[in-house]
Amino acid sequence: MWSQFIPVKRYFEWNPSSLRATGWIMRAVVSKESSPQHQEREGKAEENAAKWPGAEAGATTEEMEPSTSQSNHEFRIKRRLGIGRTSAGATQSAAATAQQTNSPEKSLGCQRVLRQSPPHSKPGTYQLTITKSKVFDARHVTTAQGMFEALCNHIKYGTNKGNIRSAATVFCQRKPGQGDYRIWNAQLISYAGYRNKEDGTIVGDPGTAEFTEVCQKLGWVGAGTRFDLLPLVIQAGNRPYPEVFALPPELVLEVPLHHPTYDWFSELGLRWYALPAVSSMAFDCGGLQFTAVPFNGWYMTTEIASRDLGDTHRYNQLEVVAKRMGVDTRTHTSLWKDRAVIELNAAVLYSFQKMNVTIVDHHTASESFMKHMETETRLRGGCPAEWVWIVPPTSGSLTPVFHQEMVCYSLKPSYEYQEVAWKNFQWDEEDSTSGSALGLLAGGRSSGGRRIKYRFKEVARAVKFTSNLFGKALQRRIKAAILYATETGKSEKYAHMLAELFNHAFNAQVMCMADYDVINLEHEALVMIVTSTFGNGDPPENGEAFAREVRGMANNHHSHHHPIATQPKYQIGSSKSGTPLLNRVLNRDQHSLRSFSFDQLQQPSVDSLGPLSNVRFAVFALGSSAYPNFCGFGIYIDDLLGSLGGERLASVTCGDELSGQEQTFKSWAQQVFHTACETFCLEDDVNIDDVSATLRRDLITSDTVRFVAVNPQEKPIHDIVAGLSQTHAKNVAECPVVFNVTLAKDTDGRTTVHVGLKISNQWISGTRNSVTAATYEPGDHIGVFAVNDDTLVTGLIDRLGANSTLPPDGPLQLQTLTEHKDGGKTWQNQERLPACNLRTLLSHYLDITTPTSQTLLALLAAHASAEEDKRRLQLLATDAREYEDWKHWGFPHLLETLLEFPSVAIDAALLVSQLPLLQPRFYSISSSPLIDPLQIDITAAVIAFKTQGGKGPMHYGVCSNYLAHLKSGDKIQCFFRSAPNFHLPTEIERPVVMVGPGTGVAPFRGFWQHKQALQLKGEEMGPMLLFTGYRSPDCDLFVEEKSAMVASGILDYAFLALSRHPPVPKTYVQDKLLEAAPLVYRMLTQQKGHFYVCGDCAMAEDVANTLRMVFQKAGGLDSEESEDFLMTLRNERRYQEDIFGITYRAPDTVIANRRQQ
Ligand SMILES: Cc1cc2nc3c(=O)[nH]c(=O)nc-3n(C[C@H](O)[C@H](O)[C@H](O)COP(=O)(O)OP(=O)(O)OC[C@H]3O[C@@H](n4cnc5c(N)ncnc54)[C@H](O)[C@@H]3O)c2cc1C
Ligand SMILES: Cc1cc2nc3c(=O)[nH]c(=O)nc-3n(C[C@H](O)[C@H](O)[C@H](O)COP(=O)(O)O)c2cc1C
Repeated sequence: MWSQFIPVKRYFEWNPSSLRATGWIMRAVVSKESSPQHQEREGKAEENAAKWPGAEAGATTEEMEPSTSQSNHEFRIKRRLGIGRTSAGATQSAAATAQQTNSPEKSLGCQRVLRQSPPHSKPGTYQLTITKSKVFDARHVTTAQGMFEALCNHIKYGTNKGNIRSAATVFCQRKPGQGDYRIWNAQLISYAGYRNKEDGTIVGDPGTAEFTEVCQKLGWVGAGTRFDLLPLVIQAGNRPYPEVFALPPELVLEVPLHHPTYDWFSELGLRWYALPAVSSMAFDCGGLQFTAVPFNGWYMTTEIASRDLGDTHRYNQLEVVAKRMGVDTRTHTSLWKDRAVIELNAAVLYSFQKMNVTIVDHHTASESFMKHMETETRLRGGCPAEWVWIVPPTSGSLTPVFHQEMVCYSLKPSYEYQEVAWKNFQWDEEDSTSGSALGLLAGGRSSGGRRIKYRFKEVARAVKFTSNLFGKALQRRIKAAILYATETGKSEKYAHMLAELFNHAFNAQVMCMADYDVINLEHEALVMIVTSTFGNGDPPENGEAFAREVRGMANNHHSHHHPIATQPKYQIGSSKSGTPLLNRVLNRDQHSLRSFSFDQLQQPSVDSLGPLSNVRFAVFALGSSAYPNFCGFGIYIDDLLGSLGGERLASVTCGDELSGQEQTFKSWAQQVFHTACETFCLEDDVNIDDVSATLRRDLITSDTVRFVAVNPQEKPIHDIVAGLSQTHAKNVAECPVVFNVTLAKDTDGRTTVHVGLKISNQWISGTRNSVTAATYEPGDHIGVFAVNDDTLVTGLIDRLGANSTLPPDGPLQLQTLTEHKDGGKTWQNQERLPACNLRTLLSHYLDITTPTSQTLLALLAAHASAEEDKRRLQLLATDAREYEDWKHWGFPHLLETLLEFPSVAIDAALLVSQLPLLQPRFYSISSSPLIDPLQIDITAAVIAFKTQGGKGPMHYGVCSNYLAHLKSGDKIQCFFRSAPNFHLPTEIERPVVMVGPGTGVAPFRGFWQHKQALQLKGEEMGPMLLFTGYRSPDCDLFVEEKSAMVASGILDYAFLALSRHPPVPKTYVQDKLLEAAPLVYRMLTQQKGHFYVCGDCAMAEDVANTLRMVFQKAGGLDSEESEDFLMTLRNERRYQEDIFGITYRAPDTVIANRRQQ
């Protein structure tokens, strides 16, 4: 506090009766009429303002000492505010202006630009210095409850877990005809002092004895200890009575005092609170009088040690300490007081520092005051200060301020004492008798035995008006953090759309979860999450760390605060079919997410205040209803944030890839924007409907995007590796193909290829997504950058060529016209895409095969000249059902869409700027580095299918077909991705059970190769079981290799399930698993084996269910025990999944979904 040059030390020795009310005389009894003093004050404000030409709202006046230097000072302040109008018309009073403009924040705006001002001579008159302070605007609050919530918010913000932040909360100013808003407490946090009526002795803080009696009179009953927290007594302007609120204990950080060397010191049982927050003073700003403006700084050691604990009229501990030190207290000559006060100071400093609570010693504070004084003298020509307030109570002459001459004068705006509120309060008879008549009571129970009403949840609802006070005037907007996690880029795209919308009223900042520091979370005002779900209900890779850290935060919070559980809305640990979620995340740390269920956490109870209680949030979850754990991760994050006390602006919304995801997103975004504006009181500032139209508008037009030809001399050959590395932020390498063989081809023409790649030992791990080739492990993935089919690319170039004069083979740079703050516009390179020719862009960088999105269809509609094309495109762009039907019938790629609507004439640059990036495809590495560290194998099923229910044209999967057509010597661009949750056991003797139907066998080839290689080195791995399944034997993969492995004992068993091979009965891997139940069960229980599943999501769900049956069949477990055992396996990382996606049955799925709906 003192260190901020606010002379608060007297507050800590505060004794109401000793207050000199040099400020205003205020009536505590609420009257509908304006008090005479009040009227007098209003008049004075007018007068003052009139004295100072140009003193309009927002300006500060130095009414007390109209010296030349002060005039200059005033002028400087106004100039900094940019409001130094000197015209006659500007000479209104601050109060009057504020009332007229209904923008009193302008009057307060001056606070922000005031430099720190020193304490000065008049006791009871203070200059507020809040240049670096947070100001909470609570002027809209009209009830005591609302004030209480705002104060809790202030305490929480200020305390900041010990890293104290200075802040002020501004409640409504004095208004004619209304009562004042008052906080009766001298400080927001203080200890009670109980006076024994008989002998006059006091238990607790004698400094608060009178106020403690007031609290008791209001019905408060304290526990009677030396350090009881006093309740807050709050009076709202329109209420005749104050109301009493117990301080939520978890809001108040206290420091038990210990001494660095004297062990006995702890036995004294001394403690002090961390946050010094003055609450009874008034603030006079340009004629406006704020009667409730609590503010806080942080402590200087001497405040607590020398004054609060040392003063004889306070806790009076010096003698106690001296005696325990063994110093003779009978004579002054032993200097016992001096010695005790030093040790008390040492104890306070030591204890605060040990608990990481901000505190400053008097030497440091004095030095920084000297610096401040110097600066002020240089810049302002003076620095008012009163020597007796500045010099610390202990070791005065050892500090430089002792030797400094000081001049004392007053500056405005200032903090001033006001008459203690209860002095003139007219007590009813009933008040003094019933005690509880005034409502909320504290100390555990009221005298009438009522439970305390903490209303913590309401506290959580207290709005964070972080910058509203100066928001508009100073262009500081409330920050909206938009966090996304994505695998294929959609969530990121939506996050940017959301930011565009929110930027109309907020300061929206988009960040990938992976780049976000979770420490900041609790300090956000508004957080929006946009995330997809991957694997089998898991987070995308770039959301994993975030999930883990927030989960850690929840664990921490709930283990400390909530022993009792409540039922969550959504259970992590169970999907539709009971399969646990969040595989990858949980397996990465001991306290895994998957083992976590919300019944361990409880939702914030009405009596709790979670770490995110100041945070508003909303979650949009992307997913596909084809997956059992539909949008599992988004729902999980939503529940987690809620359980931490965050307040939802809207319920979690799921955008289904199979049904109108984009439309759902847009309406969610509008709803959330609307609610956020309402919540933060911004609805007057923006036309929400107009702004929402942003989502419908094409922000980029052919006038704002263009291609420019790049001089081929400057960019002779496009470096594809560098380009992809930059565009995708990956450590991309180029690998030559060593071989490419067809492993199997079934009767339906479905093929699987086996591709070998040579890798270089020069590969260096560069991004968090990559591992070095030399260190990869079986089970890891390789990401492959495919090249689009040349016929599609050429077709597109031809189709676009009709509207373009650009050479398809000359290097081009995409540019967008960017508007600057000053209104100027310049063309800027679009960093998303490198400079290269159109063919390269369409071949390597852009996704031209995924069915056209609704946003793009809307853009095409705007460029269609035929009415029918326009109408149909608009319908598809706006009607989710029509769109889904169109999409799932024809799976139209871009060229097909353009051919379907021939009148669309769209500029190539505009189209390119709107196309999504071609995403890399992942493949499980099908080899072991122990066999050849410089080779990586891929096993890929080649995707080819006929659209329109099997009657339409052939469509080909981009990457699998690209791989299928590679020849030995061709080079591909790729990168590694580590899959630590799918690695072989570290204890190599443990059994391994592998279930991988179809191409799900891919990683298991790496596993058996690994065992084989180890065996050759003389190391023996545990038993291995393999379960594979195909339609018929001609689809079986690695047939010979498997036989050899079984023959050599590498594979103990290889089970094969055939699903379409009459007369063999239809069999799936699940059936084989059940057949082998005793063996599998034994391996998993007695031998602590590991179980791996690889392939599509539905299969993985079925396998998990089958495994439960295995436990029941072979182990005699009941269903609950089976579930528990499966959970245990997951937690011990002994049940691991690698999910490829879904086995494509999209049309069926969509139809099934429709039916369900
Ligand atoms: C972690 C991981 C590991 C993987 N490991 C492997 C692996 O080892 N081996 C492997 O083969 N694959 C693996 N995959 C899948 C692989 O990444 C690709 O998704 C797959 O090769 C298809 O890519 P593509 O570019 O050929 O097809 P795309 O161009 O992406 O086309 C696929 C799309 O075509 C459409 N489609 C496909 N079939 C049909 C149909 N019958 N009817 C209608 N539409 C259809 C769907 O829209 C589907 O999304 C893995 C995936 C992941 C996430
Ligand atoms: C391998 C894979 C696994 C998936 N797993 C799930 C899942 O478990 N639940 C779900 O709702 N969606 C799942 N999806 C669908 C994605 O969440 C969906 O495609 C989403 O729109 C992708 O958004 P993104 O581009 O931001 O990652 C999965 C998709 C793939 C390819």
